[in-house]
Amino acid sequence: MMVEVCTVINDEDVREFVEPRMSLADFLRDRLRLTGTHLGCEMGACGACLVLLDGKPAHACLVLAVQVSGHTVETIEGLAERGALVDLQGRFHDRNALQCGYCTSGMLMTAHTLLETNATPTRDEIRDALSGNYCRCTGYEAIVDAIHATAMQRLGGREVSK
Ligand code: FES
Ligand code: FES
Repeated sequence: MMVEVCTVINDEDVREFVEPRMSLADFLRDRLRLTGTHLGCEMGACGACLVLLDGKPAHACLVLAVQVSGHTVETIEGLAERGALVDLQGRFHDRNALQCGYCTSGMLMTAHTLLETNATPTRDEIRDALSGNYCRCTGYEAIVDAIHATAMQRLGGREVSK
């Protein structure tokens, strides 16, 4: 049995028929070719699959595609296309805040959400926010640096508390 999904993804209307058990992550990746949403643990632990569901971070591996009917989804591609990540991506690049890069989409999604809600996060608050994102290359220091530097830059270079 196929079920209809009627949703808005990255500002575009999407209407598809899917199997009821298909996850949102598989729907985005396999059906819509939005492969920036990565799959790591597939159990809500690693944060590689984070998307914005009605503007709030959600694990696409734990949500069924059919559950997003009537809701809006934004993926890393949508954020990038509307220019929301330009400075974050720049600081990640400057600070070498990625090794293999597999976790980076989820890290950027978390960083974006954090800076939307807290323009002056301390390093501890950044670490706290990243606690649901696993980088198996274990390079967290540079990632924290990059997010902290972005916050400072957005404040016009003003010092953010350590
Ligand atoms: S793949 Fe979804 S949290 Fe790891
Ligand atoms: S950079 Fe490799 S898992 Fe994070």
